[in-house]
Amino acid sequence: MAQRNAEKLGDGFIHRQTMAQVMRFTTTELGELEGRIRSAGDRAMALEESHFAALADAVLQRAGPLAATAGALAALDAAPGLAERAREADSCRPVVDASLEFSISAGRHPVVEAFATADDGAGFQPNDSDLGPAANRTAAVSGDDDAGTSPGRLWLLTGPNMAGKSTFLRQNALIAILAQMGSFVPAAAARIGVVDRLFSRVGAADDLARGRSTFMVEMVETAAILNQATDRSLVILDEIGRGTATYDGLAIAWATVEALHETNRSRGLFATHYHELTALAERLEQVTCRTMRGMEWKGSIRFLHQVIPGAADRSYGVQVARLAGLPRAVIKRAEAVLKRLEAEGGGRRKVSFADDLPLFASAPAATAPEARPSDLRLRSALTDLRPDDMTPREAHDMLYRLREMLEGEDDG
Ligand SMILES: Nc1ncnc2c1ncn2[C@@H]1O[C@H](COP(=O)(O)OP(=O)(O)O)[C@@H](O)[C@H]1O
Ligand SMILES: [Mg+2]
Repeated sequence: MAQRNAEKLGDGFIHRQTMAQVMRFTTTELGELEGRIRSAGDRAMALEESHFAALADAVLQRAGPLAATAGALAALDAAPGLAERAREADSCRPVVDASLEFSISAGRHPVVEAFATADDGAGFQPNDSDLGPAANRTAAVSGDDDAGTSPGRLWLLTGPNMAGKSTFLRQNALIAILAQMGSFVPAAAARIGVVDRLFSRVGAADDLARGRSTFMVEMVETAAILNQATDRSLVILDEIGRGTATYDGLAIAWATVEALHETNRSRGLFATHYHELTALAERLEQVTCRTMRGMEWKGSIRFLHQVIPGAADRSYGVQVARLAGLPRAVIKRAEAVLKRLEAEGGGRRKVSFADDLPLFASAPAATAPEARPSDLRLRSALTDLRPDDMTPREAHDMLYRLREMLEGEDDG
């Protein structure tokens, strides 16, 4: 059959193969097409490579103008971005001059603000800062007009945890950067005497991988600040000395404040949990105390995130611990310990104190009654349990059974 049909084909068909039921033919054109298709992939790749090389060449030859265009486009992109942000965030145009002022009214932290407005109704609390030089006594007496009117260039900020100290520090640093890069700033008004360098020591990012503990990192960074900051710099220091024992930490923080005041003479914000440091404000002319307003209410604390003149009388750590959900017994015990420590002047008489207050006095008495038969049954049932092998249904049933064991005991 195939043979007979094949005979009907005209010239130009070249026989390729004969099988039981079929015969296959090809033609010269088909053969050529097959070859072209087979090499098409290779040719496409080669062409692509040569086009790419040509393009790369062309780009290289015009590298200068292209980079300039990209730069211009980036600037065109950044400027409207900042402008849009400025409008959305209700920002102001800062004054940047050659003075040593740093005066921000109603400054805000752009990122924290975005979150604060989103979830709780309270919104973000704006805060002022004024780190210009304080009028010194002689200038005040002589009525010198150039004398500053600021409270002082170094602010000691005390206040409970979670009150907003770190946020305040960072927002001022951010405002300085934004102002000097030519942006509007998130504040109602801002006047900034050019800052030559911004130094910050914040957070407790461990660098353990490189063998440096948090405290070591903290000290290395503080050393860099004290060695480099000038009277034109802006320094923010968050909780210096936190990484070591109380007295060490306090001593280092104390000496750091003195050095910043006397030697570096930088404008600075110093957040600290050592309220003892606020004594420095009486001795150092440019040091002034600020604290975070909090409200104590029914033994708990509410944060208003507001920076006000003054010093925190204590750190409210126990209240914060309560907010965080520490067990009641632990909170009660901590309050008792704190009271005693405060009464005894900072825990110098630790030994007598430890003797006086029996551990767990405020915790419910931990009685150890004799083991009852049901206890043993419960214990063995619990020991035999294989939670990983149980279905939720089985686990549920087991809970009922355990309860029954207990109740059987109570009735009996
Ligand atoms: N000015 C503010 N207005 C509203 N909420 C704030 C403000 N400052 C801080 N907060 C909120 O309080 C939290 C704790 O602030 P933070 O600055 O870390 O406190 P601190 O350093 O005193 O422990 C922030 O995560 C933020 O949610
Ligand atoms: Mg903080």
